[in-house]
Amino acid sequence: MNAETIDGYLSEEAYPTAFHRQFTPPWIDAMLRLSGLKPPRRDDRAPFSLLDLGCGDGLALVGLAAAHPEGRFVGLDALPEHIKRATAAANYAGLKNVAFFCGRFAEIDDPIEPTFDYVTAQGVLAWISPTNREHVRRLCGLYLKPGGVACIGYNSMPGWSAGLAVQKLLCLFAEGKDGGSVQSFEAALEQVRAIAGAGAEGIDAKFIVWLDEIKPTMSARYFPHEYLNRHWQPLWSGEEHREMMRHGLVFASASRAEVLRPDLILNDLQCARLALIADPSARQTALDVIMNQTFRIDLFGKQLDPADRSGTEWRQGWWAATTPPDEADYRIISGEKTIDFSGRAARQVIDALADGPRRVLDFAPLTADEGETGLRDALDALCISGQILPCDAPIDPPFADIFNRLNVAAAKMGAPLPALVGRHGAMPVGQAAIVDADEGARHALDALSRLGVRLPA
Ligand SMILES: C[S@@+](CC[C@H](N)C(=O)[O-])C[C@H]1O[C@@H](n2cnc3c(N)ncnc32)[C@H](O)[C@@H]1O
Repeated sequence: MNAETIDGYLSEEAYPTAFHRQFTPPWIDAMLRLSGLKPPRRDDRAPFSLLDLGCGDGLALVGLAAAHPEGRFVGLDALPEHIKRATAAANYAGLKNVAFFCGRFAEIDDPIEPTFDYVTAQGVLAWISPTNREHVRRLCGLYLKPGGVACIGYNSMPGWSAGLAVQKLLCLFAEGKDGGSVQSFEAALEQVRAIAGAGAEGIDAKFIVWLDEIKPTMSARYFPHEYLNRHWQPLWSGEEHREMMRHGLVFASASRAEVLRPDLILNDLQCARLALIADPSARQTALDVIMNQTFRIDLFGKQLDPADRSGTEWRQGWWAATTPPDEADYRIISGEKTIDFSGRAARQVIDALADGPRRVLDFAPLTADEGETGLRDALDALCISGQILPCDAPIDPPFADIFNRLNVAAAKMGAPLPALVGRHGAMPVGQAAIVDADEGARHALDALSRLGVRLPA
């Protein structure tokens, strides 16, 4: 492999299209509210701006721009092919609220004044050189307005410790192989397998089994991006929190519901041990160790305000159900622990969202006799189990139809479907749902309407 790189980051093949709902403003705001903080957007559909660092092929950002005409979006990436695709998609949809720039983090100047409410960087920090990591942190610190939030997704320790030796060998072996990065990855993996097969104390055999399991489920282009970057380095969350602090950004919350509510996942003794750790970043690192986390999505605030003292801010949020009432599973099974949350509050949430997204305050007024804790636990448990997701107040986005038409047509030809745009935001919709809905399958149509998505005629 003689692949070109951007400061050590492989630039031969485009990264596969991906949509990550944890990086959307409704999700970020919900996690902040659940953590007792004020989100950057204080009112429904208030105008906002978002910068995505290392935006990949930008299709997710184009979807967000179509879903949020009240937002202004900027995507930055060093790969010309990514920016070409992103710009073509934005132009095709006729969107004027999204712009893409081709450039390296190191080349981006400091701003004259901070301009963004959100800065996101998914899958970037742990794959680039230490110098570029510092540039990403610099850009987050300087481009965010006070009251803004950075959402950063990165490979974390100690979950990745089982894969360290394999990644190192893959990276070294691929350098000597013929062909492009996908072929070089395959050849390098064969060589690693052979060494593991001969007996290698430093290789965790379970990791290779896991790799073989996920390979058929993902694009072949994903693997060189994940494993063949010279500077690939899973990070310790506590250390990353400290690095961000040097740029004026304070760890505010995890952006994954299960990390937000470890008490719903861990046993009582684990929770008690965690509660003894006063420093929030040290506590998060201990949580990573207990959960053996491989990935973190962290929110870092720039002078975020605390939520109102009434503690009811989280009730302002809108939610959508991914599950109909008759299929809801009111349990979380984690290790030896099973949480049963089949009480009235959880059923109330799922029933209320059966016909489409709603705001908590509207279906569960403050006087609800179930009480704050029951409802709050139910919401968190349903979010952890993926049966509800945060969304926005409804509007009719003018470019939803054209964006959806473009993506549905591509999906029917086998392209990945990043998201569809609905009245409540950009929603993750599986490719299968599109085909089923096309055939008029009731469950697929119901699923789309629960998310507030209308398929183009
Ligand atoms: C793993 S991909 C993630 C893409 C996207 N955020 C996603 O989650 O789908 C990392 C991205 O960072 C970009 N990148 C890497 N080094 C960069 C640099 N020095 N400056 C700008 N972009 C860079 C790559 O081109 C690539 O698109």
